[in-house]
Amino acid sequence: MPERAFELWMHDIRSRTEQALERFLPAPAIAPARLHEAMRYATLGGGKRVRALLVFAAGELADAASQPLEVCASAVELLHAYSLVHDDLPCMDNDVLRRGKPTCHVEFDEATALLVGDSLQALAFQLLSEGRIAQDPALQLRMIALFAHAAGSRGMAGGQAIDLACVGRQLEVEELEFMHIHKTGALIRTAVLLGAHCGSALGERALERLDHFGKCVGLLFQVVDDILDCEASTATLGKTAGKDAANCKPTYVSVLGMAGARAKAAELEGEALAALGIFGPSATRLGDLTRFIVARRF
Ligand code: IPE
Ligand code: IPE
Ligand code: MG
Ligand code: MG
Ligand code: MG
Repeated sequence: MPERAFELWMHDIRSRTEQALERFLPAPAIAPARLHEAMRYATLGGGKRVRALLVFAAGELADAASQPLEVCASAVELLHAYSLVHDDLPCMDNDVLRRGKPTCHVEFDEATALLVGDSLQALAFQLLSEGRIAQDPALQLRMIALFAHAAGSRGMAGGQAIDLACVGRQLEVEELEFMHIHKTGALIRTAVLLGAHCGSALGERALERLDHFGKCVGLLFQVVDDILDCEASTATLGKTAGKDAANCKPTYVSVLGMAGARAKAAELEGEALAALGIFGPSATRLGDLTRFIVARRF
């Protein structure tokens, strides 16, 4: 696909996701106004929306309608926004800048940031359970279970626990991979599956290949995040650069070196693209997104 068409598609999905989130988040005037204002502050008007893009791109493979995709994309972005608000808290990464703005606990306060995370997570589950996102109610329940697994102690929250426990330690590459697959990979992998499940049923082999794609791309995303933390500037990232080294976090760069981290990213990109092979041209957008994730500068 020509690059321009892909950019226009990304622009379109981002604005549809933004509008959907705008609709789903409680209006700031509704009580408790400060909490709702903070939820909107943490979610709207920023972020690359990579997870929403993956939901839509995977949905295209299964000819999914846009309404369920909007719901799933919003739920995934709400959960992601919650994870960022908590990740930035003083008890975790202690960051003051996110998406080019003061972090939620700096702009509001710590207790509000905690409640913002709680509320965004609850809203995500509310969206997935209130609307009709799959033809079959049993499949919809399985989608919600997948999402819960990705969010919890066997997914993102568990990965974050490992991240905190590993500060100052030198990890083996297998341990590092386990941490990244959980803290970042789990939600990205689930975004891909949710998108596909919104459409017509794919065969077992197709779902297995798509799941493998999601696993590779989820890990790839965090490897590139580790690289950018070292290489990019605070201004382009919209978050404080160099924080991983400053906080003594094990990353792909600290464990493998910059050249090793880049080689790992290239290997994962190849593996992700190979997993799409059976889909032919219908997976073009997922392929373009994979290349975007590697080439991104922020
Ligand atoms: C940052 O995610 C946190 C990680 C899981 C690496 P993104 O880089 O997707 O953050 P936004 O949504 O674009 O701000
Ligand atoms: C965060 O990883 C993963 C999450 C689940 C939020 P990082 O701590 O590396 O994310 P950034 O670099 O602060 O965005
Ligand atoms: Mg962190
Ligand atoms: Mg962080
Ligand atoms: Mg990071």
